[in-house]
Amino acid sequence: MHPPPDGANPLLYTVLVFLHMLLSMLAVGFNFTYVIWILRGTRDQAMLPFALKTVKFIDDYLANPFYLIAGLTGVLMILMGKQIGSFLWVAIAIYVVAMLVAYLIYTPLLGRQIRVLAAEGPDSAAYQQVAQRSSIVGAGMGAAVLVIVALKIFEPSFW
Ligand code: HEM
Repeated sequence: MHPPPDGANPLLYTVLVFLHMLLSMLAVGFNFTYVIWILRGTRDQAMLPFALKTVKFIDDYLANPFYLIAGLTGVLMILMGKQIGSFLWVAIAIYVVAMLVAYLIYTPLLGRQIRVLAAEGPDSAAYQQVAQRSSIVGAGMGAAVLVIVALKIFEPSFW
């Protein structure tokens, strides 16, 4: 149950919790399809450009905007009076770092991966290098959102 904070409009608060959990659930789910698209594209190299462009489409127009709205609904829940436990501060810090990495590193890296693939092909050293970098950054962000979900469910107390 997600009891509304004292004085908060129960319906509005519950709608925020619903949106927060739905959008963050969808965004995490979308993220975990990237490895499937990329593995299948890598196996069938004629499909690799389509696979990478699909990952970029999902990332730019679905996953990242959903994370942003999830963050906004999170802030609104706090402004409505939701108590912030230490786990939530840690989750928010991980969220901020993950969103900065997403927009400042992963998105440009994926764009470069698509361009280098078109210019130099999948077997080129330049493509292999950028593909490895985006896989490492992508895996790191995947781990970050899993840690956020675990923090939200287990609610550990750090201080
Ligand atoms: C990747 C990003 C995020 C994910 C996956 C996520 C996921 C979740 C989940 C699964 C819950 C429900 C936990 C439960 O059942 O008790 C939750 C609750 C909550 N989240 Fe997030 N969250 C994210 C980011 C944020 C951010 C950035 C904030 C604040 C700015 C935030 C604030 C909250 C609050 C206040 C609740 C408690 C709602 C309640 O129980 O009344 N979340 N979040």
